Amino acid sequence: MLTTRTIADDILELKEQRKAIVLAHHYQDSEIQELADSVGDSLELARRAKQFDGDVIAFCGVWFMAETAKVLNPSKKVIVPDREAGCSLVDSCPVEQVREFKKRNPEYAIVSYINTSVEVKAESDILCTSRNAVAVVNSIPAEQPILFLPDINLGNYVKKQTGRENMKIWQGACIVHATFPARRVVAARTEHPDALVAAHPECPPDVLRMADFIGSTSAIIDWCVHQSSQEFIVMTESGVSHSLHRLAPEKKFYFVANENCNCSECPYMRKNTLPKLLACLENLEPTVELAPGIIERARVPIERMLQVK
Ligand code: 13P
Ligand code: SF4
Repeated sequence: MLTTRTIADDILELKEQRKAIVLAHHYQDSEIQELADSVGDSLELARRAKQFDGDVIAFCGVWFMAETAKVLNPSKKVIVPDREAGCSLVDSCPVEQVREFKKRNPEYAIVSYINTSVEVKAESDILCTSRNAVAVVNSIPAEQPILFLPDINLGNYVKKQTGRENMKIWQGACIVHATFPARRVVAARTEHPDALVAAHPECPPDVLRMADFIGSTSAIIDWCVHQSSQEFIVMTESGVSHSLHRLAPEKKFYFVANENCNCSECPYMRKNTLPKLLACLENLEPTVELAPGIIERARVPIERMLQVK
């Protein structure tokens, strides 16, 4: 019997030939997550990239995540299906402004969210992700002032959790999470009165106040899967529904549209597609190219973060 060869078959074959690993963030299309070697949040994918000892890391996520993989494993070729897979948080935080702040305020510790350019990472004292931001801030001596950048909502959440008063917060925002309107969460709760609310900390404070749980993408998935409740309103990018339905097929998950695209998809993450993944494995580009000097400087704050328990 003849079988039809699919694009996924071509990708898997090429992956073997290239000695490549496919890493996918939870916000990728299901068909990409389906054939990835690892799916995770930004912290898990950074750790996975560091451990890899083949030749090529095909990073299905956004560019700053691929840069982080390159910094942690510089001898590997790191490719991304679409070079335009950026992030509004990265765009909100130009390195010149960070340098200017450091010049004027040398006493501040710069705590940068992983959603920053590699140049901003190189200017930072320590990195964090949504999973470990509270622990990272708590690892800094209480008397030292902090500049937390660039996400205002994550920064305010961390400030509240740590009770840290000497913390300035950058004014950047995620175009997906920051535009989830609280009134739509209220409407979703009215429609699904038994549902619990899980939210990513990039959501606005009035949304976070309604949340039963706040955490990174993987933490949200773990929490929903392990709760006894059967229904959840999930305040993050709808790509997480892939793992949620796989791990808890009997449960119901509701997503709320934001005001930016009237959906809950990240337009940057969704630039990556299966045909572009095949093309980047064929052509080995777009490739992350970083000068050795920047790798050395950006590695220090990333490694510091990875030491925080
Ligand atoms: P995670 O760290 O939870 O993977 O989030 C990354 C991100 O870009 C959220 O918008
Ligand atoms: Fe950036 Fe927001 Fe997209 Fe995450 S969801 S990659 S923070 S724009």
